[in-house]
Parts: sequence; structure tokens; C-alpha cells
Amino acid sequence: MVILKSQHRPLKEQSIIVPIVQSIRRPLSALITIHRNYGDLVLARFFKKKLLFVCKPEHIEEVYSQEAKGLLSRDFLYDAKKSLFGDGLVNSKSETWTNQRRIMQPIFTRESIIEWEKVIINEADSTKNKLKNTTDRDINLSYELKALIQRIFISVLMGGSVDTLSNKELLINSIDTISNGLLPQLVTQIISNGKLMWLMPHKKRSYQNAVNQLTAFVTQEINSKYEQPGHDLISLFIQAKDKKTGYTMTKELLKDEAVNLFFAGQDTTINILSWFFYLIGKHETVHKKITAEIRTHKDDPLTLENLSRLVYTKAALYETLRLYPPTTALATQALENIMIGGQNIAKGTTIILSMYATHRNEMLWERPNEFYPEHFVNPEMETERHKYAFFPFGGGLHNCIGRHFAELEMMMIIVTLLRDFTVKTNNNIKEAASITLKPDRDVVVTLMPLSA
Ligand code: HEM
Repeated sequence: MVILKSQHRPLKEQSIIVPIVQSIRRPLSALITIHRNYGDLVLARFFKKKLLFVCKPEHIEEVYSQEAKGLLSRDFLYDAKKSLFGDGLVNSKSETWTNQRRIMQPIFTRESIIEWEKVIINEADSTKNKLKNTTDRDINLSYELKALIQRIFISVLMGGSVDTLSNKELLINSIDTISNGLLPQLVTQIISNGKLMWLMPHKKRSYQNAVNQLTAFVTQEINSKYEQPGHDLISLFIQAKDKKTGYTMTKELLKDEAVNLFFAGQDTTINILSWFFYLIGKHETVHKKITAEIRTHKDDPLTLENLSRLVYTKAALYETLRLYPPTTALATQALENIMIGGQNIAKGTTIILSMYATHRNEMLWERPNEFYPEHFVNPEMETERHKYAFFPFGGGLHNCIGRHFAELEMMMIIVTLLRDFTVKTNNNIKEAASITLKPDRDVVVTLMPLSA
């Protein structure tokens, strides 16, 4: 558990080797151990790199606000992410990012994403109908969720059905391979400017092959959209134009953005839904409350507006995002000498926002390590809590552009399945170290039909 010590003394460099070694069996707990041992603002040196670990919401807000002023930047990770994300939003530098974000933003607003409600409902319904034949026996829910998210995503991004793809298994696997390979790429970049990557030649090779497969697939789809546009995201991007500047997306950037969304939009939601069903299948009381709430609204059409009435269900989803945020830490770098938390931070310092530690901080959460949706249902607690005590979708300029879409999609899937089934989890899973926080094995459950 993290204890927030107030730090008025100048920051002393700490050795983080011990917490890292101690946490080898549970890598993410390294972030918690670092803050527990040395406080909420921790300066450390790893090889030649200066690192600053930040977990206090007020300091996180300062980091985002300094980033908005141009005093911090994520460009130092550009090379490590270039082979996958190219110049898409997740990786692009200042001017390209500004132009791209400006023309993409209107397509992702709360109002615009309503466009995709039908696609999500249809796909969630067909998964539910398929699962009706599997009740009362073990099923691999992770596999089903992965397939469902992919069906939705292909439909939203490209307007087609995943059934028409000859290489769909290859694509599902490529996301996993990329997800597993990206973490060592980024970590070696942060601690050694990428030099330590030679230690993992197999990871590097399989990662690159998966990236090539994904890029080739996306390029082929884009070419067909230029010939025959539809109502999908790629076609919307082709038509998008900045009213003020006349800026439009080049074909190369369109390819990069499609790959960015393909990865950022699927891996994250697949992980959260897997954790969500795992958790409710283990916590009967929470599950019963969710079922009761969903049943009260069982005849309401599934719309964004109606979903907002499911307060407890949404709280359980947020609680999952708190405990298992797909992006466990975010990194940025000081371009100038700056101040964070009243401390001087030298130019060149890499700043790590320890989201995982913030989300489990005992000073901020009543039951930091428990699955306790009540954290999000009590309006008083909500207003008292700092906005960066919970930031699974990031913040500042680079906040998640897909947040509204992700929340709509996840709530619709949860409600569709839980209108018909009760979930019982049959195995135990742990956190796996990957670029997104995923379960270390597939979630196995039994679905029991709910009587009408
Ligand atoms: C559970 C679901 C999701 C979570 C928890 C999540 C989380 C995040 C986080 C933490 C960031 C980085 C923010 C920062 O650097 O401060 C981010 C950025 C981003 N996300 Fe998501 N995300 C999710 C779903 C999605 C979806 C569904 C899409 C696309 C449809 C998407 C597209 C993106 C993009 C393009 C960026 C880069 C934004 C920029 O730098 O301008 N994400 N997301």
C-alpha cells in the first residue's frame, strides 16, 4: 500500500533496484513498492537515466499542465513506437499530432459515437445467442470477448464483417504478439535508449512480423475504401477536413491512424471486459446487485442515455478500471528544468505517472486492493476525490480519444450478457506484465441462464 509522505526536503536519488528485484513475481507491484519505500515523488537513476516517479494526483495534474505548456514531451519514445504506431495519434509529434487530433476529435465525441450503437448491439446479441448453447459448462470467456471486440472493431473501422476475412485468426494473434513485444521495446527505450533490446532477439523478430501483418492488412482495406467509400471510420477519415485550415489526412497518416486505433481500441477493452467478468464471477454480492439493477431496466432499449441510469453497473466497470487500468503507467520527459511538487526537476528527466500505484493508494481509496464498486457510487466521495485519483483514460492533451466509444461498447456488452446470464468464474488469474495490464491466462467461466 502506498503511503503519501509529504516531501519538503530536496529530492535525493534513490536506488530502485531493490524494489524491482523484490517485485519480480508481480512486476506491477514495483510501482507500489517504490512509492511505499520512498514517498509520493521518487527520483531515481537507472543506468544513465534520471527517472521521476509520480503518484500523487496533485502532482499528476502539474505534469499534465506542464505538458500542455510544452515543457514536457513524449517524443523520446518516438523511435521505440515508430515501427507500430508510425505518425498516428499515439506517437505523432507536435504539429502532426495537433492537425490529426483536430480533425479526428469530432468523430469521437459523445454525440458522434451514437452512430455505432446498432453495430455494437447486433454483435453483442449474436455473441449472446451463441453463448446460449454453452450454458452450464466451462467456457473460455476471454476468447469469446476477444472475438466479439474484433467483430465490432472491424465493422466500425472498415464497415465489413470479420467473417469475410480469410486471415482473422492471424489478426487476433498479431494483437497479442504486439502487446507482448511492445513493453520490452518501451522499457528498454526508457532505461537504455533501446540498447538492451539485443537481449531479446526473438521478441523483436516476432513483434516485427506481427506489426508487418497488421500493417499489410490495414493498407489493403484502406485502398479499397478510396475506391468504394462507406460509413466506416476509415471512410470518415478520408472525407474529414479541417474547416479552418483545409487540412486533410494523407494516405500514409490514414494507415498509421487505422493501426493506432486497431491496437489502442481493442487490446484495452478486451482486457477490461475480461477482468470485469472475472471479478463479478468471483464476487457474488456485487454480481447480484448488478443483476438486480439491470433487471429493473430490462425492457429499456440499449442507448447511451438509458445506460447512464445503470449507476451500480457503471461503478463496477469503473472499479475494474481502477484496479486493472490497461495502461498502468505513462511516461513523458522534461524538455526544460521544471518544478513538480515544489521540487526542481532537471531537464532530460523521464517522468513516470504511476497510475497503478495512484489507483491503489490507501490515502485515496477506502479499500484500495478490494473490488468495491461503492468507491464510485457515493456522490460525496466522488466530489471530494481529486480528478487525477482515477485516470484510466489518461488526461491533459493526450487524453484517450476513444473514451466515449470504449465506455459505450463495454457497458453495452456487459448489459447484453448479464440480461440473460449469471457468471461463475472457474479459475484464478493474476496480472501479466505486458504493455496493457492483462490476465496471465484466459478467464474460464460457467454461464447460467437467468430465468425470465
Ligand atoms: C478501456 C478502454 C480504454 C482505456 C482504458 C484507454 C486508455 C488510454 C490512455 C491511458 C491513453 C493515454 C492518455 C495519456 O497519454 O495521457 C489513451 C490514448 C489513446 N487512446 Fe485509449 N483507451 C481505451 C480505449 C480506446 C479506444 C476504444 C480507442 C479507439 C477507438 C482508443 C484510442 C486511443 C488513442 C488514439 C489514444 C492517443 C490519444 C492522443 O495521444 O491524442 N482508446 N487511451
